[in-house]
Amino acid sequence: MQKDLLCLYDLTKKDFDKIFSRASVLKKKQKQGEVYHPLKGKTLGMIFEKPSTRTRVSFEVGTFQLGGLALYLRWTDTQLGRGESIPDTARALSRYLDGIMIRTFKQETVEELARSADIPVINGLTDLYHPCQTLADVFTMTEQRGGYANRKVAYIGDGNNIAHSWINAALRLDFDLTLACPRNHTPKDAILKRAQKEASSNISLVHDPYKAVKGADVISTDTWVSMGQEKEYRERIRAFKGFQVNEELVAASKDDVMVMHCLPAHRGEEITDGVMDGKNSVVFDQAENRMHVQKAVLELLMGRKA
Ligand code: CP
Ligand code: NVA
Repeated sequence: MQKDLLCLYDLTKKDFDKIFSRASVLKKKQKQGEVYHPLKGKTLGMIFEKPSTRTRVSFEVGTFQLGGLALYLRWTDTQLGRGESIPDTARALSRYLDGIMIRTFKQETVEELARSADIPVINGLTDLYHPCQTLADVFTMTEQRGGYANRKVAYIGDGNNIAHSWINAALRLDFDLTLACPRNHTPKDAILKRAQKEASSNISLVHDPYKAVKGADVISTDTWVSMGQEKEYRERIRAFKGFQVNEELVAASKDDVMVMHCLPAHRGEEITDGVMDGKNSVVFDQAENRMHVQKAVLELLMGRKA
């Protein structure tokens, strides 16, 4: 694996497989109560410029379970909030820490941090990508469906960071991906076109959710209003009408289709209560798996080699 995890496009299929196989081992160890400390004496800094529940807790607890220490660094409580540059911050933090996880707005910020830091940098979400989330999602599909190759994933809703990460995963892992998005909220053209050009699987964009879910193994969705888009709330709620993952849409897919949501969910908007709490929902398995896959990433980037 490369030094950093900035985006799933940068991973090889072998990297994905290694992460999934270590995540599986680490999950078993944790369930069996086995003490395993490959990060003994190591420290992860976690910089947050946006809120978080799952990312913060799963990284913090995961690092602890691996014998390391995680520091929560709220952007505005550091000198970043007062204008210290990313390169200077990276160089100073590299003298104390063994790795950095960052959640911020611009992908360029994460890239600049990674370029300037001597230590691994992990993207904990930007406006463009959420690689750790999709690692957990594909791991969940693999665990519960025995693999990812030739599976069919339908992503319904906003062409956002989650959609972009699904596109990169489908490109590397050869599963089919159909995105159903409103015309004004499609994924970035460059990311979609690159994947369509390079992938051996079928990655397509449609505007009818019913077309996307037909024969799907997974239906995934996400909020219509991502962090930082709060001012667009009314316009977005209107634009996404017809893109709700509800009982009717799920019934149009396979009986045992897995319904995924990265969370937090906005019940009654992109997903109904009935689907969130229904028999097809695996949303909390995904949330749990965030920790297991991230532990695998931490072990591979920061720990003793497995
Ligand atoms: N899915 C996810 O990243 O959740 P948080 O925003 O709570 O970290
Ligand atoms: N697309 C959402 C994902 C939250 C985990 C956001 O960026 O707010």
